Order: sequence, then C-alpha cells, then structure tokens
Amino acid sequence: MSFRIQPTPVARPNRCQLFGPGSRPQIFEKMAASAADVINLDLEDSVAPDDKPQARKNVIEAIGSVDWGKKTLSVRINGLDSGYWYRDVVDLLEHGSERLDLIMIPKVGCAADIYAVDALVTSVERAMGRTKPIGFEVIIESAAGISHVEEIAAASPRLQAMSLGAADFAASMGMQTTGIGGTQENYYMHREGQKYWADPWHWAQAAIVAACRTHGVLPVDGPFGDFSDDEGFYAQARRSATLGMVGKWAIHPKQVALANEVFTPSEAAVTEAREILAAMEKAKAEGQGATVYKGRLVDIASIKQAEVIVKQAEMIAAQ
Ligand code: COA
Ligand code: MG
Repeated sequence: MSFRIQPTPVARPNRCQLFGPGSRPQIFEKMAASAADVINLDLEDSVAPDDKPQARKNVIEAIGSVDWGKKTLSVRINGLDSGYWYRDVVDLLEHGSERLDLIMIPKVGCAADIYAVDALVTSVERAMGRTKPIGFEVIIESAAGISHVEEIAAASPRLQAMSLGAADFAASMGMQTTGIGGTQENYYMHREGQKYWADPWHWAQAAIVAACRTHGVLPVDGPFGDFSDDEGFYAQARRSATLGMVGKWAIHPKQVALANEVFTPSEAAVTEAREILAAMEKAKAEGQGATVYKGRLVDIASIKQAEVIVKQAEMIAAQ
C-alpha cells in the first residue's frame, strides 16, 4: 500500500438510482415507493426548456412534502453551460427543505466546474443558515470529463458519487452509436466466421472506478436506455459490478429490481467470501500467508477481496 491510504467512500447503499423528470410530478410518489436506494429528480435533459421553471417548483415542493423514507434524495441540476443552473442551485437551497441530500452536476469537464458549484452552494448554505451540508454527485459524460476524471474525483469533499453517462459521452466522443449503453452492433472482434462483441464502455468505466477509488467516491454506471431489454441491462450491470462499480441508474421503474439484484452480493458470494476469510484466519494461526480454498490459491490479497463483498452485504443489511 502507498503511504497514502485509500479513502473509504460514504457508507450508504447506491445500488440503484431511479430518475424521473421534474416536470412529471405525478410519478414522484411512485418513485418514493420504489426499491431504489437513490432518487434523482431531474431538472436537466428530461425537462423541456419551457418547463424548467415549473419543474423547479415541482421539485422544491416535493422535496419537503413527499415521504422519501430512508432514500438518498438527489436533484440533477442543469449544466454549467446553460442559463439555468445557478437558479436551480439558489432556488433549491433557498426554498427547498433540508431533506435534500445531494445535487447532481451533469457534464462536468474539469475540477473548476465543481469548484464553481461548491462556491455557490457554500454561499447560499451560509446565508440561509442551513445546517445539513449538501453533497454532490457528478456525471462524466464528455471527452473533457473523462480526460480530467481524476481531478474531478478530487475536486470537493462534498463529492460522494460519480456516474458514467453513456449517451452524452458517446456524442461528445464522436462515437457512431445512438444507443444508451450496452452492446454496440459494430463493436466486435472477428475470427473464423464468428463475431465476438466487446465492450466499448470498458475504458471509461475503468478510468472512473480508478479515479473514484483513489479519492473515496462511489463509482456508478449510468443509464441503459432500452428498458425492454432485461438481458442487455443485466449484462451491462454485471460488467459494471465486476469492474468495481456499486450501482446503476434506472430510467424506468422496471429496471430497479434488476439493478438491486446485480449490485446486492448474492448469498453464495457472501458465504464464499466468509469461508475465504475463515480459511485465511486458520492459515494465519498456522503461521502461513497463503493457503488453498476449493483448489485455488488464496492469500492476503484475497482477504481484502472477500472483505469488499462482506462489507457491502453488511452495509445493505444494515439499511
Ligand atoms: N419512476 C417511477 N414511476 C414511473 C417512472 C419513473 N421514472 N416512469 C414511469 N413510471 C410509472 C408510470 O407512471 C406507470 O405507472 P402506473 O402503472 O401507475 O400507470 C408505470 O410506471 C409504467 O410506466 P410506462 O407506461 O411503462 O412508462 P411511461 O411511458 O409512463 O414513461 C419514460 C416512460 C421512459 C418516459 C419514463 O419512465 C421516464 O420519464 N423515465 C425517466 C427519464 C429520465 O429521468 N431521464 C433522465 C435521466 S437519463
Ligand atoms: Mg446526459
């Protein structure tokens, strides 16, 4: 381990983030009743320009009036290149109740984007005498965002989570696809008459996970657009979980259960992790740093791997 210890992210479940447009208040109660760990009320791209002021009002009203239970409540503000974002922040913090947990900043391109929002948030919080500090989450969804991902992850102690936004990311990168996440028809290897699909999101995801883990931020996989394709969602989500991401967005309520299933360690996985820990305890008592579990090597690194799974399961069970 480096002399610098890897910071621990905030201890709360983030298996699924359910989105809903701020301009559609009829679904807010349904969102609150869902099994998602995080609720994202949207003021950005799912809200048409003419509807922005009303969406803001709907969201501010709902923060205080809807019973969100133990969920993490987040509002996605508009991007810093828009004329809306400052009003989103000021109105949310001047008129919204302290129930709000997070502000999600879309399309961040550099650490200074977060600095700017932090300065405004800090100023309004002080002026209003708000006692609960607002946390941040960001979306990496541009070439600049992925190029500066590490400085973004380090930008503010308010930052709790970072998502990959596949659609805007693809557009910014000039990728030839209109799909939102998942397998892409033209991204394949070819051998002996067979196509083998590869994962065009892999690099961006791994870069996000590394930046997040370096700075104690939760890495999250963003939207999967085709909500009729459960198998596609599972495949995408399982790849993300394997790479170290802790959860995934749902852009339709039917995706919530799928994300919760993938990002909750299975009973078998938890049992195996506990058995590995027990095997290593036994090895340690016998003065060994490595031993054999089910015919394979386990050593001190295996303890850390197993602990990731056990801790995740315990944190979810504690909810
Ligand atoms: N959260 C909670 N409930 C939702 C919901 C959501 N995001 N979207 C739809 N529902 C409800 C509907 O009201 C409906 O409820 P009912 O059975 O009581 O009538 C039920 O779920 C089934 O909805 P369905 O008819 O399949 O979908 P729709 O056509 O109403 O809406 C979308 C589909 C994709 C437009 C909608 O889910 C949506 O707006 N998703 C979020 C988009 C978003 O926020 N994007 C920004 C992030 S990428
Ligand atoms: Mg986007």
